[in-house]
This record gives sequence, structure tokens and C-alpha cells, in this order.
Amino acid sequence: MKKIATLLAVVGLVMSAPVMAKSTKEISDQPLGERGLFSERAVIERVTLAGKVCLEGQPCAAAVVAGPAPGAEPRTGEQIVTAVCSGCHGAGVMGAPIIGNKSLWGPRIAQGKDTLHQHALHGIRSMPPKGGCATCSDEEIIGAVDFLISKAK
Ligand code: HEC
Repeated sequence: MKKIATLLAVVGLVMSAPVMAKSTKEISDQPLGERGLFSERAVIERVTLAGKVCLEGQPCAAAVVAGPAPGAEPRTGEQIVTAVCSGCHGAGVMGAPIIGNKSLWGPRIAQGKDTLHQHALHGIRSMPPKGGCATCSDEEIIGAVDFLISKAK
């Protein structure tokens, strides 16, 4: 009887082994031996400076998303609004006039298009210059303002 119980336990262990192996992969996708807090990988990760210098032409440079490539077509107003402005203007963060809301945009549009362009380019109160998008060209920001205006008309 005891032998049968042992046998069943062994069979059970063997059958559950693949399941267990699968689940440790789910805990960490690092190879075994590199998962620990003091493994070489973890230590290097901790002591590496937050900023890294990446020169053009190096493979790491490909990961830097620096906006449009030189000579590329400017992005449309709608693209800029979706990528940048909607972060605040989508839900009205910090009192940003909500996209498409006529009563919020009405008094602002009444200031005139040029004033709105200037305020978007250089910022006004809690509206940051260019909406915080350093890689956006003036042309792209103006396009984005025109798109916002067109949505609120
Ligand atoms: C960090 C949040 C934030 C982002 C991102 C942002 N805005 Fe704003 N924006 C604001 C706030 C807040 C106001 C209201 C400022 C006020 O009148 O006090 C505002 C106001 C404006 C106004 C009206 C200015 C006026 O004179 O009444 C325009 C135009 C505008 N934003 C354009 C843009 C454009 C274009 C983008 C994207 C390129 C953008 N904003 C991204 C927060 C933001």
C-alpha cells in the first residue's frame, strides 16, 4: 500500500514538472541564474546611469524617437493633436479646453487665430509651450491649433 502511494506521488511529480517549468518562465523571462537581486544583470541594471549617450549611427540610436526624420513631411494637425495635445485637451486636464467643446473653445477662438497660434507656440498659464512637444515644429503646432479650432466650430 505504501509502495503504491509512493509510486503515485512520483508519477504525480513527474507529470507536474512541465507545468512547473512553464510557470517559472512566467515569473521572469530572464534565464535562470540571472533572476536574482544580486545577479550580474540586476546589478548592472541598477548601477547604469539613467541617461545614456547614444550617437547617431550606433544601433541604440534607432530606439530614440526624435520626431520626424530630417526632411520628412510635417505631421498633420490631427496627428499632433492625437499624439500630444489630447493628453490634456482630451479630458480637460488642468482646465485645458476639451477638444470639440464649443462653449469652452468659443471665447478662446474669439481672441483670433493668430493669438491662439502664439499661445500654443509659447505657452499661456498652465498651457506649456508647444504642449511640451520639443520635437514638434512651429508649422506642426499651428496645424494642430487649426485642427482644434476646426473641431470646435
Ligand atoms: C500639459 C497639458 C497640455 C498639453 C499637452 C497641451 N495643452 Fe493646450 N492648454 C492646456 C491648458 C491647461 C490650457 C488652458 C490655459 C489657460 O487658459 O489657463 C490650454 C490652452 C490651449 C489653447 C488656448 C489658448 C488661449 O489663448 O486660450 C490652445 C490653442 C492650446 N492649448 C493648444 C494646444 C495644442 C495645439 C497642443 C498640442 C500641441 C496643446 N495645447 C497641448 C494644457 C495643455
